[in-house]
Amino acid sequence: MTVDAFAKFDIIVAYDAHDGGIGRAGELPWSIPQDLARFRHITSFTKNKTKKNIVIMGKKTYASLPFSGGLPRRINIVLTHAPHLGKESNNGPMTCPSLHSALMLAHHLVENNIAENTFVIGGQCVYEEALHHPGLKSVRATVVQTLQREPYDAFFPVHQLERMQIDGMSDWVRDNNDLQFRYVTFTNNK
Ligand SMILES: NC(=O)c1ccc[n+]([C@@H]2O[C@H](COP(=O)([O-])OP(=O)(O)OC[C@H]3O[C@@H](n4cnc5c(N)ncnc54)[C@H](OP(=O)(O)O)[C@@H]3O)[C@@H](O)[C@H]2O)c1
Repeated sequence: MTVDAFAKFDIIVAYDAHDGGIGRAGELPWSIPQDLARFRHITSFTKNKTKKNIVIMGKKTYASLPFSGGLPRRINIVLTHAPHLGKESNNGPMTCPSLHSALMLAHHLVENNIAENTFVIGGQCVYEEALHHPGLKSVRATVVQTLQREPYDAFFPVHQLERMQIDGMSDWVRDNNDLQFRYVTFTNNK
């Protein structure tokens, strides 16, 4: 294995079309069941059923999950400078002190036929870094339009998408909760 080899990865995110808002008070600002199901499918699906996918996230995103021990049936890697996170229980996630070290670990798991795909799933700090990483393949975005302006405190840096190519865009889907959304895939040709 090359010392500095890292996994290629996709970003998956849902952001507000107006200002790139992704979070409020440590939580998702909206609940869109269809989008959550799509997120679960994309991040869980493997061609080889003996393998799992890897999800990489920041500590605050991990803390916001409704599951103890991270997302089920996926290999969870949490970025934190606090190495003891989760060590008190056996089902705690793996932790890494940087995005690059997490991607090196992911590469190792892929090379050893344990893992298939790698996804970076937020939040703001992690997205900002991942958008500049040479391993980035694509951004799979859910673009949300809300009727009312929401007071977000976490954002996706949408201007970074301008240098990417749009490879797919769905029609708008109306949700029950006064919002509509569509899926857009951006490919990183850098
Ligand atoms: N809409 C969406 O698609 C989406 C997706 C994910 C999250 N969110 C939302 O985004 C918000 C959370 O985002 P956030 O930016 O506040 O927090 P975050 O990125 O989830 O977590 C930040 C923490 O992760 C650790 N961390 C981040 N980058 C690191 C790195 N490169 N190396 C080592 N540690 C690193 C640090 O923990 P330490 O302090 O322990 O070092 C940092 O304080 C929530 O509201 C969440 O619901 C939305």
